[in-house]
Amino acid sequence: MVGRLKDKVAIVTGGAGGIGAATGQLFCEEGAWVVLVDRDAAAMTAVEAEIRAAVPGAELLPLILDVSEEATAAVIVASTKAAFGRLDVLVNNAGIRSYEPLAEVTSETWRKILAVNLLSHSYLTREALPELRATGRASIINISSTHALNSRAGMGQYDVTKAGILSMTRTLAFEEASHGVRVNAVCPGLTLTPFHVRRLDKTRQELEAEEVENCLLRRWATAREVAYPILWLASDEASYMTAATIMVDGGTRIP
Ligand SMILES: NC(=O)c1ccc[n+]([C@@H]2O[C@H](COP(=O)([O-])OP(=O)(O)OC[C@H]3O[C@@H](n4cnc5c(N)ncnc54)[C@H](O)[C@@H]3O)[C@@H](O)[C@H]2O)c1
Repeated sequence: MVGRLKDKVAIVTGGAGGIGAATGQLFCEEGAWVVLVDRDAAAMTAVEAEIRAAVPGAELLPLILDVSEEATAAVIVASTKAAFGRLDVLVNNAGIRSYEPLAEVTSETWRKILAVNLLSHSYLTREALPELRATGRASIINISSTHALNSRAGMGQYDVTKAGILSMTRTLAFEEASHGVRVNAVCPGLTLTPFHVRRLDKTRQELEAEEVENCLLRRWATAREVAYPILWLASDEASYMTAATIMVDGGTRIP
């Protein structure tokens, strides 16, 4: 199995978080040269050490940058080009949450979440496209959420950005098909990442043992279980996949 991304260069945003780090490691295991982008320097140091320990000889470039700033996008692409000379895969994964009912939202919280969850994807994609088109068979994977489709109370801003990602994915797929760039979205369900361990104030073991309602597999996903479909979409094995939304949710019920 090793080598599914051999000779490919990939950027993963939010690369120091749960799903981003798992994706970065899996990409390295499969032979990619990987650029991990995150604003959390401490988390990135830990993730880089973990990946280098797990994948000796990993070709890894960590970048500590804030993707919510438009100018960052060009820096990421230029740094990638300087380090590895090309770009084949872009995983737009960085995301933040906002826990406010829509009746209480402020322009400040809208501005913040739109900048990270939606605009950063758009700006980085725009800057990356010339390099991606140049390869003739590139892949963009945008990380959305089951909650793009599955409404609930209390996280309206987040859910709107995740629905926007699905729309952006499909439009881009139409616009880029003739340029050899495939564009797909992955919608994770409940995935056990350090963010949720901190948020729920429980141990990882406690959460792993919990029964998850509303999901056929009755448990959280691991970040690696979400990274595998991302790997597949990034690889040439998915060469006939574009404009797709892949639910990686253990069979979550969508009304
Ligand atoms: N974990 C889940 O249950 C779940 C479910 C559905 C969708 N998702 C989505 O998957 C993605 C990853 O989720 P996760 O659980 O691994 O989250 P996480 O919080 O562990 O990771 C997100 C990473 O993005 C980084 N980030 C945030 N804002 C940034 C910015 N402005 N610039 C650079 N980096 C920034 C954070 O520092 C963090 O390392 C997110 O888009 C999230 O919305 C997660």
